[in-house]
Amino acid sequence: MTKQFAVVGNPIEHSRSPELHHAFAAKTGIDLHYQKILSPLDGFEQTVKQFFGQGGSGLNITVPFKEQAFALCDVLTERAKIAKAVNTLWMENGKLHGDNTDGQGLVVALQAQGWNLQDARILILGAGGATRGVIYPLAQAGVKQIVIANRTLARAEQLIADVQPFVADVQLKALDLNQLNGEFDIIVNATSASLSGDHLQLPQSLTFDAAYEMAYGKDSSFIAEAKARQIPYAEGFSMLVGQAIEAFAIWNGERPNLEDFI
Ligand code: ATR
Repeated sequence: MTKQFAVVGNPIEHSRSPELHHAFAAKTGIDLHYQKILSPLDGFEQTVKQFFGQGGSGLNITVPFKEQAFALCDVLTERAKIAKAVNTLWMENGKLHGDNTDGQGLVVALQAQGWNLQDARILILGAGGATRGVIYPLAQAGVKQIVIANRTLARAEQLIADVQPFVADVQLKALDLNQLNGEFDIIVNATSASLSGDHLQLPQSLTFDAAYEMAYGKDSSFIAEAKARQIPYAEGFSMLVGQAIEAFAIWNGERPNLEDFI
């Protein structure tokens, strides 16, 4: 029987998840159908219940429902608990399970570039939900230091206080976005600045060997800076594929190769 999957969000029409999951299905020979569901802003729980009530196998959750999905789950993975957000749902023994595969999506995207994460020093710009979700998977991948730089310094400090107990071996540090400095292996832009077309200033006192922009399909000043410095860079499509592969693996027990899809 064809397994049913979907991604739930609002808005949802731009989502590329159906094409990715259908491509993975074609590669692995799994019989599935994956659709987009536009949930009313005040009807998320109802949308989830209806989907699983009709025998659906798994849901991906996107903006703005990841925190609500987290709150709905009976069982959560460790990384979802730390992220406080869920992007992957499934039912098991009558219980709603939730995971967050976004962070691992970033890890595999960075590794696919050939960028070494073992003992790496990483600078992340931004201290919102996107950053929260990647700390634990980066720690698991062996990074040594993560500096979180944010426009609102207190938010970076709070995030670090929240997650440090879960990543005891990683050195975490907060920095003011206006006082960027230091030497890093990889810089990751997790701010929403590029989505709104805002400019991020990266001073010469800040050096890095590789740059990853979490957003994709946008002309960001962050990527322009990486180009000007002639260092390797990549954009968020590979992270999107990475998180989709992780969700696919949870649901279907098979893990397609990232390199085949980016
Ligand atoms: P997400 O869940 O995508 O991380 P978020 O929680 O709204 O979204 O967080 C957005 C992040 O982008 C925050 O770190 C925000 O900085 P503040 O905490 O100071 O608000 C950052 N951000 C958004 N617009 C920015 C801009 N123009 N310049 C710098 N940082 C920006």
